[in-house]
Amino acid sequence: MNPTVSVDVHLAPADWAAVLATEVRAGLAATPKVLSPVWFYDERGSGLFDEITRLDEYYLTRAERAILTTHAANIAHLPGPSTLAELGAGTSDKTRLLIEAMRDHGSLERFIPFDVSEQTLRSASATIADEYGLSVRAVVGDFHRHLALLPREGRRLIAFLGGTIGNLDPVQRQCFFTALSTTMEADEWFLIGTDLVKDPHRLLAAYDDARGVTAEFNRNALRVLNLQLGADFDPEAFDHLALWNVEEAWIEMRLRARRAQHVHIDQLDLDVDFAAGEDLWTEISAKFTPVGLGEELASAGFAIEASWTDPDGDFLLTLARLQD
Ligand code: SAH
Ligand code: AVI
Repeated sequence: MNPTVSVDVHLAPADWAAVLATEVRAGLAATPKVLSPVWFYDERGSGLFDEITRLDEYYLTRAERAILTTHAANIAHLPGPSTLAELGAGTSDKTRLLIEAMRDHGSLERFIPFDVSEQTLRSASATIADEYGLSVRAVVGDFHRHLALLPREGRRLIAFLGGTIGNLDPVQRQCFFTALSTTMEADEWFLIGTDLVKDPHRLLAAYDDARGVTAEFNRNALRVLNLQLGADFDPEAFDHLALWNVEEAWIEMRLRARRAQHVHIDQLDLDVDFAAGEDLWTEISAKFTPVGLGEELASAGFAIEASWTDPDGDFLLTLARLQD
């Protein structure tokens, strides 16, 4: 096979800067103040996320890897897919298990990783194309807006791993699932990883690790605003907070102002005040039950074909296709 790499860019840096400006202006005027978690993932933030995946406390990546190690061969035996697409692909590290299983089965013709982070995508695509002799068509885009632009080459298995769906709120998830189902054909597959509701102590430890890597990842959102928008946030003047919201079944990550402070955002010509103890909401990470996920998928037109957990029952991998 010819190991070519192409990159479709639906989010050029200038478009992205305009989206950042609009969202930050709206988010910092809201009560409570809020930022989208998408801004974590510049090069430094993607590196910090990678470090998080190796932390003792962060069981999610290990659990999903364990499921893929056991079941990738079953997934590779599905009738049909010649294309593996991956949303929010990042470094596609665990995805290698799927790539290898589909390659060994002889069915894989191309890999289509999709992510907002162009640098991460370009370097992961080059490595994967080279290592597996695979044709890679990378797509730089926002999965809230560009799902319809996911290339329709070959029959696709579309993977969305890592529990990233939990970083969307219920309304965003419904929009995401519906947008995805309308781009899929009857003979295509959707593979989704979700973290499961569990003991809050373990959840909280996963989002507030002893070494403070998650705290640095959280504060990275402020560094991104400093770099991209000429803001003068002092990231160290904010405490990292992870809370378990039992009613919503999600972890809330926030940054809490240690003292009253004034921030100027040069490129927005904007001044923002934080009261001492005021929170800036940066991420939710929803945790699921198999039944709840099944209902969300069903209302977007998906039917579950199979689902698997790791031996500890921490994480769920679900294979779905369109309802008949
Ligand atoms: N799938 C990998 C990475 C998860 S980290 C894993 O399982 O470990 C979340 C990834 O989603 C990051 O690479 C980030 O850049 C990407 N991402 C976050 N918001 C996005 C959006 N709105 N559109 C596309 N990709 C996004
Ligand atoms: C990418 N996503 C699934 C991670 C999560 O667990 O919600 C992001 C993250 N936030 C803090 N730690 C990791």
